[in-house]
Amino acid sequence: MRVVLGIESSCDETAAALVTDRRVILAQRIASQDDAHRPYGGVVPEIAARAHAERLTPLIAATLADAGMTLAQVDAIAATAGPGLIGGVMVGLVTAKALAMAGAKPLIAINHLEGHALSPRLADETLGFPYLLLLASGGHCQVLLVEGVGRFRRLATTIDDALGEAFDKTAKILGLGYPGGPAVERLAAQGDARAVPLPRPLLGSAEPHFSFAGLKSAVLRARQAGVHADADIAAAFQQAAVDCVIDRTRRALAAAGPVQALVVAGGVAANRAIRAALEALAGEHGLRFVAPPLALCTDNAAMIAWAGVERLGQDDPLDFAARPRWPLDPAADPVRGAGVKA
Ligand code: KG4
Ligand code: ZN
Repeated sequence: MRVVLGIESSCDETAAALVTDRRVILAQRIASQDDAHRPYGGVVPEIAARAHAERLTPLIAATLADAGMTLAQVDAIAATAGPGLIGGVMVGLVTAKALAMAGAKPLIAINHLEGHALSPRLADETLGFPYLLLLASGGHCQVLLVEGVGRFRRLATTIDDALGEAFDKTAKILGLGYPGGPAVERLAAQGDARAVPLPRPLLGSAEPHFSFAGLKSAVLRARQAGVHADADIAAAFQQAAVDCVIDRTRRALAAAGPVQALVVAGGVAANRAIRAALEALAGEHGLRFVAPPLALCTDNAAMIAWAGVERLGQDDPLDFAARPRWPLDPAADPVRGAGVKA
């Protein structure tokens, strides 16, 4: 049995995990920075980097202690090396390099998006390649054909905002605070989606790309009109988001060719309405639907450690540079807006 230590620090979660090549999470810890960023309504990069620098090393020590292990018993050190907020990424990557050097262990630099993309295989050993993945988080909204480890074909991306970002901005408009996704979902459950007409950007367009900026602006106008209940606005926003996601993913499925499963990952995969609609779409196509458990959807280090397991044998140089941008499919056509915020 081999064990990989995973480190995640690309946004506002400081996380460490120990995962085996038998898909067992021996230990994992996540320190959320929500409280530090809440007053600002979003993640402040400088505050995030400082918090990672303070918390990461003790968090790794505690994770090792939880598993009753020492660094000597770890087979490799995997860390997010991008994309993300560069200060935080540097903290995690430099820490991983120091541990790799001190322990004479291989360093495995992980693309955070690959961590999300492969996380469903940690949860489900029967999930084989290729699969169609909707990767929707605070910084990304892409549909990827996952053909293997390090082999991605990006079929769609957002031309403006990420889906999680649209949830977060809707939450801000409705005064729900940060992080917004779960709060919008809770409020939406009490509202009537038909009470507020909202647009579905790019619905029916030939290419499977996403757009959420116009939806966000419409939410703002609906709120400012002062005639709708907040719960109805939240419900209408969520329904519009679901309709867009399903229409766009259906289009991507048609372009993808044969796949093993329809898979969703990233923080927005925690949304029950989106999950349910994707499951129905998969059913329509006679496909399996795979969604990792909620704790594996939002940022965590178990997915980074697992990507490290998938890449065991790799040993990256100690001068591997942190990458603020790191597309999974470098050959993908650039689209307006590029769809990558961090
Ligand atoms: O993957 P993640 O933890 O971090 C990034 O890499 O961005 O995703 C965080 C995003 C946030 O925008 C958050 O509002 C959204 O995922 N999110 C949700 C839900 N839970 C988290 N969006 C909609 N519904 C949810 N239940
Ligand atoms: Zn993420």
